[in-house]
Amino acid sequence: MCVILALESSCDDTSASVLKNGKILTNIISGQAIHEKFGGVVPELASRAHQRNIISVVDQAMKEAAISQNDLDAVAFTNGPGLIGSLLVASSFAKGLALSLNVPLIAVNHLHAHVLSNFIDDPKPKFPFLCLLVSGGHTQILKVTDYIHYEIIGKTIDDAAGEAFDKAAKVIDLPYPGGPSMDKESQGGNKFTFDFPTPKIAGLDFSFSGLKTSFLYKIRDGLKEDPEFIKKNTQDLCASYQNRIISYLTEKLLKASKQTGINEVALAGGVAANSALRERIGELSKKHSWKTYIPEMIYCTDNAAMIGITSYYKYLQKDFSDPGIRPFAR
Ligand code: KG4
Ligand code: ZN
Repeated sequence: MCVILALESSCDDTSASVLKNGKILTNIISGQAIHEKFGGVVPELASRAHQRNIISVVDQAMKEAAISQNDLDAVAFTNGPGLIGSLLVASSFAKGLALSLNVPLIAVNHLHAHVLSNFIDDPKPKFPFLCLLVSGGHTQILKVTDYIHYEIIGKTIDDAAGEAFDKAAKVIDLPYPGGPSMDKESQGGNKFTFDFPTPKIAGLDFSFSGLKTSFLYKIRDGLKEDPEFIKKNTQDLCASYQNRIISYLTEKLLKASKQTGINEVALAGGVAANSALRERIGELSKKHSWKTYIPEMIYCTDNAAMIGITSYYKYLQKDFSDPGIRPFAR
């Protein structure tokens, strides 16, 4: 029997999950609306909100799982990367609880956890597989060889895909977070109305800063011609910009599959919740005989269940952490 409480507080979601033998019993997520009016996460406000929320989030996760503290075999937490003030909340909580219960502490890398979110439900990927990890802070293609080991074979040299969504959305005043807002606006738009350039970066690496700037210039030039430019074109702008991001991501993924000869392909991270990306992966899967894996929406954006599943595989290998371990921002 292995019962784990896992905690996540790396950015602006406070989350707790209870697992029994690798099966998720609960996954409680408390978001932070406080950042909406700033159009982005304010680190100091995020860490304070985590402090306010963590006890009730943990209580709810334990209660709904019908698990008491004495049933716990380990406590897991996100050790980084993330906002340092935010990381400190779950890490301090987890360390205190593990020490007081005298059970192992398991530190989990947030990116590793996004990748292993593909192991929460069935069917599960077979090793080795490729994972396109697209979040607010990272864009990577990983070759995953087992539950613990992976190699980053491509990564962004500047902004992340999620950032490219969020910053462009902010330029046209869409609500925070920008990614889901752009996704929604795109539904009614024509993806061929506006042309955005495909970034030219060799190999499997990515760059999004030029694409982001081209969006800014398109808006600036459009507004010079017509002060109502944004209002009249929101849906087409979103659909065209989103389409360029998605085709760029999937072109690189296709290249990675050809280079490695691997056709087990998974998505992970907040941008994996994007409807156009999910649809495109489905098309590629048919065309190139890929076996594709996409976590349920709730496991794409930040959540403690993915920390839990990763900690479960670490628990099986007795990969425990010293309470002195320090969280890291990057
Ligand atoms: O994985 P995540 O929750 O947090 C990080 O680890 O960064 O990812 C958050 C990112 C944000 O940039 C958000 O705008 C983006 O994921 N995102 C989306 C969608 N849902 C979340 N981007 C595009 N379309 C979506 N539906
Ligand atoms: Zn994340």
